[in-house]
Order: sequence, then C-alpha cells, then structure tokens
Amino acid sequence: MSQQSADAAQPEAGLENLLHETRTFPPSPEFAAQANATAEMYDVAAADKEAFWADQARELLTWSKDFTEVLDFSGAPVARWFADGKLNAAYNAVDRHVEAGHGDRVAIHFEGEPGDTRTLTYADLKEQVSRAANALTELGVRTGDRVAVYLPMIPEAVITMLACARIGAPHSVVFGGFSAEALHSRIIDADAKVVVTADGGYRRGKPSSLKPAVDDALDKGTDVRHVLVVERTGQDVAWREGRDVRWADALESASPEHTPVEVEAEHPLYILYTSGTTGRPKGIMHTTGGYLTQCAFTHRHVFDLKPETDVYWCTADVGWVTGHSYVTYGPLVNGATQVLYEGTPDTPDKDRWWDIVEKYKVSILYTAPTGIRTCMKWGAEYPGRHDLSSLRVLGSVGEPINPEAWIWYRDTIGGGKTPVVDTWWQTETGAIMISPLPGVTAAKPGSAQTPLPGISVDVLNEAGESVPDGSGGYLVLTEPWPSMLRGIWGDPQRFYDTYWSRFEGKYFAGDGAKKDEEGDIWLLGRVDDVMNISGHRLSTTEIESALVSHPVVAEAAVVGAKDATTGQAVVAFVILRSDVVEAGEDTGEASKIIADLRNHVASEIGPIAKPRSILVVAELPKTRSGKIMRRLLKDIAEGREAGDVTTLADSSVMDQISKGMKGSS
Ligand code: WTA
Repeated sequence: MSQQSADAAQPEAGLENLLHETRTFPPSPEFAAQANATAEMYDVAAADKEAFWADQARELLTWSKDFTEVLDFSGAPVARWFADGKLNAAYNAVDRHVEAGHGDRVAIHFEGEPGDTRTLTYADLKEQVSRAANALTELGVRTGDRVAVYLPMIPEAVITMLACARIGAPHSVVFGGFSAEALHSRIIDADAKVVVTADGGYRRGKPSSLKPAVDDALDKGTDVRHVLVVERTGQDVAWREGRDVRWADALESASPEHTPVEVEAEHPLYILYTSGTTGRPKGIMHTTGGYLTQCAFTHRHVFDLKPETDVYWCTADVGWVTGHSYVTYGPLVNGATQVLYEGTPDTPDKDRWWDIVEKYKVSILYTAPTGIRTCMKWGAEYPGRHDLSSLRVLGSVGEPINPEAWIWYRDTIGGGKTPVVDTWWQTETGAIMISPLPGVTAAKPGSAQTPLPGISVDVLNEAGESVPDGSGGYLVLTEPWPSMLRGIWGDPQRFYDTYWSRFEGKYFAGDGAKKDEEGDIWLLGRVDDVMNISGHRLSTTEIESALVSHPVVAEAAVVGAKDATTGQAVVAFVILRSDVVEAGEDTGEASKIIADLRNHVASEIGPIAKPRSILVVAELPKTRSGKIMRRLLKDIAEGREAGDVTTLADSSVMDQISKGMKGSS
C-alpha cells in the first residue's frame, strides 16, 4: 500500500512513498500507430481551448441546431457551453446510430447475475427507449420534470435514463444500495414526480428487494404520483393501485415511435447526489451539450475506443457518476458495444468477471482499484482459468491506485501488454479530467499524470500559489471545462462556498495532489471530511448524523481509516448516553449495542456506510473551541500513536481512547 496511506488531512504525508515509484511503461509502437489519441492534441488544445472543444462538440455530437458561441463564463462560477445550440441526448446516444446504418450493432450485452442474458442492438434500444419515453409521458412526465430512478444494473436502468433524456426530464438516479431514508431525502430535494424501480435485483446469488424501499420512502410523504415497476426477480411486492404501474404493461401499450424533444445545450440532463463535507447530500447538476461532448471525447480517446470492433465493459453501477458517464452516455454516444453485468464479481465463483471477459471478448475494461485489489487477494488462479487475450486497454477510477495493484492489473489481467489508464475525475467534473492517453503517454504506475487536452489543472499551496515540480498541495482546476457541474440543485450559495471560495476563481476539488519532478500529477486522497470507501464517496458528517439519530448515542465521530482492500473503511467512535451506560454496565450489552448501531447506519444511509468498527468511548478529543479532532482519531484507527495533542482541551482523552482501543482489539 502506498498512496492509500496518504493522510487525508495532510497532502504532504503521502509523498514519501510515492517518490519511490520510478517505473515507466512507454506505449508499444504497434499500439501508438493505431491509437485515436495523438501527442499533437495537447498542442492543438493549448493553442485555442475553446476552438478545440467546439471542434469536439461538432465532431462527436449531432446538433439539431448548431451553436455560434462556445463558452460563456460571465456568470462565473456557472459556465455555459455551446449555449445557443440545440440537441437531444437520447437521439445522440441511439437514433443517429440507427440512421447511420448501425441498427444491428449490439449496444448492450446484458449478463444477469444468475446467468440469464439479453442482447440489445441499437435498433432494439431505440424501440425500448421510445416506448419508455411514451410511457413516462403517459404518466404525466413533462420536459423539465424530475424522475427518480432506483434500479439494479439491468438494461432498463439505461433505457430509463435515455427515455428521460429523450423528453428532457432530468433523471435523478439513486444507487440501489441506498436506504429508503436516503431515497426519500433525494426524492424530496429534487421534487421528483415519478419513480422508476424494480421488484428487486440479483446480488450474491439471491434476489434482493428494491420496491419495499420505494414504498417506505413514499410513505414518508412526497409528491410522487406514479411508480413504474420493472419485474426482474418476480418477488412478491406490495401494490398501490392507481400509483404503481407495471413496466411491461406500460411499455407494451406505448407506441414504439417517439420524437426526441430538442433541448438547449444548457438544459439539465440529470441530478446526481453525492456526499459532501456536511450531512446533507448535494444534488450535482449536469446539463446536456458540454457534458456529452466531454463524455464522448474522453471515452473515445482515453480508452482508444474503436466502436466497430471493441467490446467495452465498465463495472460501475449506474447509481454512481461512472455509470452515468461511462455506461450510459459516453459509450452509447460513441456507438460502442458494451457489456452490462448485474451482479458481484464472486458469484457463483471468484472468476465471474474473467468469465465475462472471455465470453464477450471484452477488449476495454474499466473498473475501480478496490475491485482490482480484491481480485489480487483472491489470487491469479481465477483470471488464470480464462483466456483474457481480447483485452487491449485497462482503466482505473474512483481512488488512487497503488503501484502494486497497477502492475498486477497490467501483468495478470492485461498479459503484461495493455496500457493502463488511471483516470481522475469526480461527480462534479462529469467526465475524466486527468489521465494518461494510451498510445501517447509513458505510463507511471500510481499516477494519473496529465490533464487531458483542453483541461487546465494546478496544484496550489495553502497560500494559493502554484507549487513547483516535486512538491505537493491542493488540486485545483483553473479553467472551466465542458462537462463541469452547473451547480448544486436548489443551492447556488453552497455551490460557490464548496468549490470556489477556498481559492478565488479556481475550482477546488477537495483532493491533495503532488507534482513529480516531471510535472506529472499523483493524487493523494481527500483533504476534507469526505471518505472514499471502495471508490464510493461517503461523508463523515453524514454517518455521524446517522449515529447520533439513534437513541443510545450522545455523540459520534467518524473517520476513514486505511484499508488494504477498500482503500478506506469507516471507523466510528461513539459516546453513549449516560442513562444507557449506567443501565448497561457489566451486563454485556456493548456488543449488542454496536451491532444495533451498525444496522442503524445501514438503514439510515445504506449498507455501504456501515462502520467496519465502532468503539464506545467516554470522551472525544476536542479543541478548546469544541471541534472534534478527527485527525487524532484517524491515528488511533490506523494503529499509530496519536499525533500532536497540544491543542486538545483535555490531553488525557487520547490516552483513554487508545487504552480503550487496545482493550477492544
Ligand atoms: C477520488 C468518481 C485518485 C478523488 C469518478 C475524487 C481518485 C473522488 C481517482 C471523486 C483517481 C477518483 N485517483 N483518486 N484516479 N478517481 N478519485 O465523485 O478523491 O464518486 O475527489 O467520482 O474520488 O469521487 P466521485
């Protein structure tokens, strides 16, 4: 483990380890000769960024009305790209490929976890998306209305997103692993009118339900008028007549013809909630023209996509941004053939991913370091059972990838020949921002390296000055980019405060980074109260609020502690209410309370937020002004001596906590 260990509070802390990594992997001449990307692209973009992006927008998308203006940043920090142009996202992702004679090309090879399969060509997709758009219209959805989507990884998830885009109704996809409570707050925030869900999906060999969480969420009170329910598992579900509608019925009775609604380039395409540094999730808002331009551009060049011959597979769930940009929009806008897999990598056995690669001859694979490290732990035997020679590009996203995992990925999965692209970006950036370009960049394991053509990045010190090569600091984006978020749904002030106030006029990403001696960028992890668990963003404050909402908890502090597989793991420190402590003393209640609290977090937020461990403590380390010093708790959680305790109001607190920790382990 190297850069995983970067102390989130101190970007400098991870530098030592990274400096030891000096290997480079230049592209092979054969790969370079056929690559989509060229070194000249950097120069072309640097000469005139706006002209570069305008060219990409015209080349990669079909506009129903061409734009005359490229970027308008007069309303900074909200940018407008290609604002007087008009287009439709679903038309770009589906119809135009059919019109161009590619209707028979496979768009989606669906692989269900139990082994069932479905193949959707672009022509099939066009029909399904059109029917779904008509069905949503029938249920009262109009251009501009929000639709919440709570689905497993089945083709209907992609179809629903595109159907929404087709009528200009922004979707708000909520990850199926989130709880009813989390779903409810997102439905309320976006004021969704319709929810699309399924009875359930398959996970780890059994059906896991979704519809009951929707019922619970709606019981808490919302303005949702209809729930469209896909039948996936055949589980029994409660049915509310008049509100609930069967997907199959609605699509069957809908016309297969639908005219896509022409929208302005800045029309909102979707809202996607992500964790911030406060307990309240932020609705990140993306619009249409600029977003699609950068998704398509990055998907084509970072993965070297050849739509006629490649089979692409991104393992991300559509509930996260990677599933939006690199399952639904980027690949389909580019006319790619892709695999969509419903389940987990170890069902029925630990070679499931590699079985899928072999079966569909996947040539481009995009996954997260957690997945790679998990497979590494399981051993080379599992990929060794399969012919993986179809793979030619491997991608990584979501967290820093440690050099060992990078090398294993390239050697064991990529046969020692494939380029590996470590792609840095965020829900907010909408698309990849920093990444090597295969065929161009000499790759360095563990580094995302270079801002893409047309993207401007810097690393700043505390004072906001650009650091020299060889130093670390805070990662910022210094100029607007096409797929940038256009704001936080309903909260323009929070948009400014969160991203634009730390360094005036620059977008602060919340990540620490370092420039090496050659100016390449190494990401060092978050520098705020956001954790990264298996590549999923979670806020410490959100989990603390969930813990404190339990009647036995008086106070809670949460930290992300280093974890060899998941990158970070949630570790919670809680103070119980005094009456609970007195009543439970010496009765062996503690382990039951801890189990209850873990389940409580799962039901408030979702199973992914469950703390790995919860430690009951008598006090929390606080400054004299009452601020919890999470940095010290992180030291304890990671098994180190606690750092500088001089600013604590009561310096004996840390001794008590470390003793408690030793006692508990
Ligand atoms: C982290 C996921 C290092 C980072 C696309 C960022 C990474 C957060 C990388 C965004 C990478 C993502 N190397 N760190 N290649 N990619 N991150 O919004 O901390 O779920 O701020 O978007 O993940 O997470 P999000």
